[in-house]
Amino acid sequence: MMNMLIFEEGHNRRTNHILKVYALAKTIGENENLDNDTMEIIQCSAILHDIGIKLCKEKYGLADQVHQQLEAPLEAEKILKSLGYEKEFIKRVSYLVKNHHNYNIIDGADYQVLVEADLIINAFEENWENKKMQKVINKIFKTKTGTELAKRMFPNKLEQ
Ligand SMILES: [Fe+2]
Repeated sequence: MMNMLIFEEGHNRRTNHILKVYALAKTIGENENLDNDTMEIIQCSAILHDIGIKLCKEKYGLADQVHQQLEAPLEAEKILKSLGYEKEFIKRVSYLVKNHHNYNIIDGADYQVLVEADLIINAFEENWENKKMQKVINKIFKTKTGTELAKRMFPNKLEQ
């Protein structure tokens, strides 16, 4: 987390986003009783998941999905390698960083929890409308904790 906060150089919105997604992903994962290895993957990928935004803005002048998917996993791998993480761990985290906006290929609890945490925080930050939040919960949310949290955190936005 220290590396990521330093990397963002005090950028207000992105720094806040990282801290929020990290805390929520950790909360959901712990409540789902996931094992320690999975929790470590979730926490690292939550910290690194939007690492491509700053890089792409600097390099290409914009942070679209295509460029982020190109740059983000490479940077994530570099950071994790320098921290001494193992190959398989690095592979999984960079895969999650690359694909966290791809909701059609979710293939594990780590992936699911990261997606749910990011979506809830995005919904808060972007003040999503009723319909959109409802649709997203029905379509993408799978964990008991994430679904319940989303419903309770947006009570006025959902049909009860
Ligand atoms: Fe995000």
